[in-house]
Amino acid sequence: MDLLTELESLIPELAKGLDQASSLQDLEALRVDFLGRKGRIARIMARLPELGPEERPRLGQAANSVKERLTQLFDERKTALVAAAEAASLARFDAGLPGRLPWRGSKHPITLVTEEICSVFRQLGYEVVSGPEVETEYYNFEALNIPPDHPARDMQDTLYVSDGIVLRTHTSPMQARVMLARKPPVAVIAPGRVYRRDSDITHTPMFHQVEGLLVDSHVTMADLRGTLTAFTRAVFGSDTRVRFRPSFFPFTEPSAEVDISCCMCGGKGHDGGATCRVCKGTGWLEILGCGMVDPEVFKAVGYDPEQVSGFAFGMGMERIAMLKYGIGDLRMFFENDVRFLGQFAGRFA
Ligand code: PHE
Repeated sequence: MDLLTELESLIPELAKGLDQASSLQDLEALRVDFLGRKGRIARIMARLPELGPEERPRLGQAANSVKERLTQLFDERKTALVAAAEAASLARFDAGLPGRLPWRGSKHPITLVTEEICSVFRQLGYEVVSGPEVETEYYNFEALNIPPDHPARDMQDTLYVSDGIVLRTHTSPMQARVMLARKPPVAVIAPGRVYRRDSDITHTPMFHQVEGLLVDSHVTMADLRGTLTAFTRAVFGSDTRVRFRPSFFPFTEPSAEVDISCCMCGGKGHDGGATCRVCKGTGWLEILGCGMVDPEVFKAVGYDPEQVSGFAFGMGMERIAMLKYGIGDLRMFFENDVRFLGQFAGRFA
């Protein structure tokens, strides 16, 4: 068979092969076999030198048109196979099948209560501020009238970063920072993370607090009481009763701890029969520490205690969230189990 006949016979041969090809892989194998670098056309062309010089151009031309035709056959078959594959997958597609719902995130309960508390105080005219978690001993202790030999400085409680640098043990250093940066009147609320060397069922080394500070002329304990009563009613419901118990903090004088009537049993201490497990039958829950800013703190930040007065308060967010949402175990906040977190979806404050 001469080369020209051999070349032309490739056309019916490919057509036959294409008819039998049932997948894109079959097609690719055929393409390599016929049109590839070492394929059949290439092999015939390699024999060009066997021909005389006058025959070569004719064979070259023929090779080009055969190549063109093969490519065309090949493309047609490919289009048909792709269309058939699409039709087959469409036939399997059930438009009536219910869709998969996208995974919906939810805010962490600590975020939710923090946002709610900040929003209540914003409405009372407070500004939300934040400050460093890595803090100097000066702001964390000294400026707050906590002397070096005070038990709160004990290595047991405080996590030291280096000499004189601590992870803040409370949000109260924000009191000093804000007063140093501003002139009275001051009304701020400072949420954030705090750290203590403490870890058991009811303590985690990192937890969240919110600090509040109001400084102006003629601020009294009655203002503190009114403010905190409005706050607790907004967060725990309008029936909530509030109780102040005398307490001690080095940076407030006088100081108090605030209890609210138990939000589980409504302050009765029982549910008709069994003792309330949340307030342990007392009817009260402790929720925060507070007091009138100590004159020593005013002096440390250059405020004149004869001219201004103020109050401060601080509370733990985990505790507030546990009471508000009826969460029994502190560890829930840190495990990030989506079955727990998902229950707060849609409670966007
Ligand atoms: N910083 C105190 C604590 O962590 C709480 C507090 C804040 C008390 C402000 C009084 C005033 O326990």
